[in-house]
Amino acid sequence: MDGHLALLDQTRLPAEVVQLVCRDVQSVWQAIRRLCVRGAPAIGIAAAYGVCLGVQTARDADLAAFQTRVDKICDYLATSRQTAVNLFWALDRMRAVAHQAAGCSAREWAARLLAEAQAIHQEDRQMCAEIGRHGADLLAELPAGAGILTHCNAGALATGGDGTALSILFELARRGRRPHVWVDETRPLLQGARLTTWELLQRGIEITLICDSMAAHVMRQGNVQAVVTGADRIAANGDVANKIGTYGVATLAKAHGIAFYVAAPTSTLDIALATGDQIPIEQRAAEEITHGFGRATAPAEVAVYNPAFDVTPAELIAGIVTEKGVVQPVTPATIAAWAARPPA
Ligand code: MRU
Repeated sequence: MDGHLALLDQTRLPAEVVQLVCRDVQSVWQAIRRLCVRGAPAIGIAAAYGVCLGVQTARDADLAAFQTRVDKICDYLATSRQTAVNLFWALDRMRAVAHQAAGCSAREWAARLLAEAQAIHQEDRQMCAEIGRHGADLLAELPAGAGILTHCNAGALATGGDGTALSILFELARRGRRPHVWVDETRPLLQGARLTTWELLQRGIEITLICDSMAAHVMRQGNVQAVVTGADRIAANGDVANKIGTYGVATLAKAHGIAFYVAAPTSTLDIALATGDQIPIEQRAAEEITHGFGRATAPAEVAVYNPAFDVTPAELIAGIVTEKGVVQPVTPATIAAWAARPPA
């Protein structure tokens, strides 16, 4: 079989718009690990399609062999990244489909896996749209032209739809609210500078790019009326793991009396973890800091600490915008109610 997964290679943006074609599960694993595809929901969607590529060579297997193969592929893809729970959530769905299979042929089971991957993709698109609507309702009181700061990239590049945090900004713009978006560059890999600006400019949103270290100054000047970010994993008490630097932004927002919101679909909720302390934090290569984008910016032998994510405590979060509505205030009880609420 010659199925393939075509991804926009995000490591090449904004300088080049290049497609990356994955024809096997190993190349999908690499694409996720190298951040060619990134952002919690997009990682889950890519992994689900990766499972479909992985079973292409198992079309003659009997049911037990097919299921073993799917388990192995899922175990393998689960090692590509650590923090975004959407990866494991999507792989669990794929695994479940394989284990529900009975009768028919391996070809038919593979078709069911593809249908599940497409459903994960389509549902995410829908969830992004709902998050946009709920978030724009929440921020409806902000004056037209209000300053909204975001960190990292929680847009179309990171999801199957219009994004989570950015979907809210797009919806505000559609409603004529003209948000002015302050984009943190997001060290060390510059997802804000490279990706969020690229998306927002294409959609005609007014933006200003700042270095991460400028956020406090910009807030003190009165330029930011709200902060909205995405999430990689949300614990049962409402603590949120997101791109490194998010905790700092939330702390700054608190210090300046600015509401800090998180936008995320239910697939980002990990109700099994009591608090954010239990969220595994991916550590990435020192070269991302010492040799960012191929150029030495520090002595090669220097000791480096490079956690890719941090955890923002629930008490700093004014609300979590989900596809089911806004979780507000953020407490263990409201998170449990979110988890229990049926899809809209
Ligand atoms: O390391 P990345 O680029 O995958 O980190 C992405 C983020 O932290 C996003 O804010 C998060 O995944 C939400 S995407 C809707």
